[in-house]
Amino acid sequence: MNVKKVLLFIALVSAIAVALSQTVSLFGGQHTWYDLGPAGSDVPCSKCHADICGELSVSGVHQNLGSGSEACAACHRCNLTCYTNASGEGAGSTPGKEVHAASTVPCMECHEVDTWSPYAGGFTNKTNSLYQYADAAHNGTKAAHNVFVQSAVNGTLMEDSNEACIQCHTNVAVDITYHIPRGYEIELNRTCGWNVNLSYYNFTDVEVRG
Ligand code: HEC
Ligand code: HEC
Ligand code: HEC
Ligand code: HEC
Repeated sequence: MNVKKVLLFIALVSAIAVALSQTVSLFGGQHTWYDLGPAGSDVPCSKCHADICGELSVSGVHQNLGSGSEACAACHRCNLTCYTNASGEGAGSTPGKEVHAASTVPCMECHEVDTWSPYAGGFTNKTNSLYQYADAAHNGTKAAHNVFVQSAVNGTLMEDSNEACIQCHTNVAVDITYHIPRGYEIELNRTCGWNVNLSYYNFTDVEVRG
């Protein structure tokens, strides 16, 4: 083989290599689509949220919602009052309206009513779409954590009261600073002419703490 032929051969191989590199895909699999036909979400949520799928699968709660993406969809694409479904599942949903793949959900979307999920006791009546758990009959005044839950409703970090639900019901780390009053001040006003029996006010058992 003379030098001319060798050079010609090299030029030909280079030309083929350049032509080939324009047709090779950058990522394998990018033209294989997930089949969206069957019910539920067929885009695997675990592809990107594997940590959450792992957590959910070992959780004692919500196992009845399904497994894999089906479980995610049960909450994140449930038939919400103020959100429409992503895919068109369920009645009244409009694909592409408000959410696409998933929506952020309030726990109370399900736990306010006990038709198919147990209700979070004491918080059964929402009076408007913003989930205020207060009406004349169920105002939560006896609930020790009502203020906590109401503050979460007002907080903007998460939907509705989710901050409170998640802090108590999940393993998420919680850092709370309590400002607890350490004493009481008692003022007794005796009105002239009112016959007060002072033995009613025997406060010897009240401990004063700084
Ligand atoms: C290709 C990767 C990918 C897939 C697949 C995916 N997600 Fe996400 N998801 C993300 C990214 C990235 C974010 C953060 C985006 C952001 O905060 O705007 C996110 C955020 C979220 C959030 C939080 C939104 C918020 O406002 O806090 C939820 C809920 C969620 N995804 C649910 C799902 C569900 C359910 C599925 C399955 C149907 C899914 N995702 C599939 C990448 C993905
Ligand atoms: C799509 C509806 C739905 C949403 C949203 C939802 N849950 Fe549930 N939850 C259920 C159902 C159904 C059950 C009972 C079946 C099960 O545990 O699988 C349940 C069970 C529970 C239980 C166990 C009750 C028991 O008696 O053992 C707790 C606690 C709970 N959920 C808390 C939450 C919290 C906190 C959130 C928000 C982070 C939440 N749930 C969001 C539907 C839902
Ligand atoms: C029982 C209901 C429930 C199930 C089941 C569930 N989620 Fe969530 N998820 C929630 C709630 C409630 C939030 C908090 C939403 C908010 O207020 O921002 C949340 C938050 C998220 C976030 C945002 C987390 C962050 O750090 O901001 C992602 C991502 C997410 N979920 C993905 C998933 C995936 C993926 C699955 C399936 C493996 C899943 N979820 C199953 C109720 C659920
Ligand atoms: C201060 C902590 C705290 C907060 C905040 C809280 N819970 Fe609970 N929740 C509990 C405890 C404690 C129980 C009873 C647990 C038991 O019986 O083992 C309970 C029980 C439940 C149950 C089971 C009821 C039943 O009848 O089986 C559900 C569902 C529930 N909570 C959901 C929620 C939701 C949703 C929120 C947010 C609005 C929430 N919880 C807020 C502590 C809390």
